[in-house]
Amino acid sequence: MNKRIPTSIVIFGASGDLTKRKLIPSFFNLFRKRKTPKDLNIVGFAWTPFTSEQFRDHLHKGLLEFANYKFTDEEWSLFAPHLTYLQGKYEDQAGFEKLAAYLDTLEEGDANRLYYMAIPPSLFPTIVTKLYATHQLKEDGGWRRMVVEKPFGTNLESARELNSHLHKVLNEKQVYRIDHYLGKETVQNILFTRFANTIFEPLWNRNYIDSIQITVAEEVGVGHRAGYYDGVGVVRDMFQNHLLQLVSLVAMEPPSSFKADAMRNEKVKVLSAIQPINGQSVAENTVRAQYRGYQDEKDVKPGSTTATYAALRLYINNWRWQGVPFYLRSGKNMAEKQSQIIIRFKEPPLAMFPMPPGQKMTANMLVLYLQPDEGVHLRFEAKAPDTMAETRSVDMEFHYAESFGPTAIPEAYERLLLDALQGDASLFTRADEVEIAWGLIDPIAQSWETEQTPPLATYEPGSWGPAEADALLAKDGRAWMHEESSHMLED
Ligand code: BG6
Repeated sequence: MNKRIPTSIVIFGASGDLTKRKLIPSFFNLFRKRKTPKDLNIVGFAWTPFTSEQFRDHLHKGLLEFANYKFTDEEWSLFAPHLTYLQGKYEDQAGFEKLAAYLDTLEEGDANRLYYMAIPPSLFPTIVTKLYATHQLKEDGGWRRMVVEKPFGTNLESARELNSHLHKVLNEKQVYRIDHYLGKETVQNILFTRFANTIFEPLWNRNYIDSIQITVAEEVGVGHRAGYYDGVGVVRDMFQNHLLQLVSLVAMEPPSSFKADAMRNEKVKVLSAIQPINGQSVAENTVRAQYRGYQDEKDVKPGSTTATYAALRLYINNWRWQGVPFYLRSGKNMAEKQSQIIIRFKEPPLAMFPMPPGQKMTANMLVLYLQPDEGVHLRFEAKAPDTMAETRSVDMEFHYAESFGPTAIPEAYERLLLDALQGDASLFTRADEVEIAWGLIDPIAQSWETEQTPPLATYEPGSWGPAEADALLAKDGRAWMHEESSHMLED
């Protein structure tokens, strides 16, 4: 990072939720850790009539409510002067001219600029065009980068349009598409588990792995977001981005380096090898469901068929993964918040110990706990003491809180914002990656909406999902697993 020239961060949509819940708590924590550039301006831009003073008050309240760390008044009083606010309309060029003039007064000469799009995607093109028209994207003296929030489009076509719009005025290297899952420590740790150790990778393939389950369960319902959510549903909200990113990290080949493009090339390769689910296979490989009571949520359209839960069975057509099913599920209003990846190994080829009648050999499992209670468990069989030959499943456990301390894990946005400031795009999605992911999700979403296939199932709030999802795995002789009091249980 060039420390000699100022850095300005402009947040479009600065009066919204994301800014006060995530962005400012993350920027502030980076500032407290002295990781932000020395000469820093954070300018909020939105239509809400705030003065800079009111904006700071609003953000201070947000910090007290949402920051996951304690801070002192002194730290705040050092940070607050970096925050200012400019009221403007996104559709109005005059507002962007005012912004350009305002930034010039703050920066006095060359400066780096990070534009943060914390606004709905329908507004991206307007803002990008206005920034370009007012010469604010020109890299003459400092860099210009743009962080784009999700959702990046609502289907392949709209994602392509957004990409082509961005590429008219920005180089791909200037674009940072956010998927906050990539900023989570435990998600980054997938690659470290695989490639910073020698013991897992030799087994990480179809010869030793039976199947992989990825669960991202949320305890909350749609809450106040139904206005957005009802129009997109779970596959667009969670699978196109977060779950497919998890698949790509679990399944990718080792990259030639830890650099952004080397990593993203491997992710693109593995996403391209996923067998598309379309036509007839949508009914066979997907389950969609809505929680009971969803129709009564505020802002849900009467008779809505939006899925709040989905389960998919995917196959990856390459040498490493041929024939290994990847079972993915995510839903709102489920039994508890739990995100985990279970690598289920094959059973031993021979049952050489006498087993009690009816008991089967148990497979080993490596469980990556993404959240909460972040950690990794390796489950294997041990001889139960004082028995002739009975085995019991036991766990070797790693918990972040125990090994690194209870506050070791930073907010995902913190890492992502720091990377964007430092010009490292490894944890951001590239244009082609986003489009391939949409290409996989589109046929599923279309079949659900137009053919009504498979039928929409219902599940009870607070449950682990519909019976149809259990049936999807039962067809393959498997069952979903989840964690309870440190033990893996079948749902
Ligand atoms: C967002 C989705 O991307 O991720 C939300 O839009 C979802 O619907 C959220 O609740 C889940 O994120 P996390 O970090 O709480 O797992």
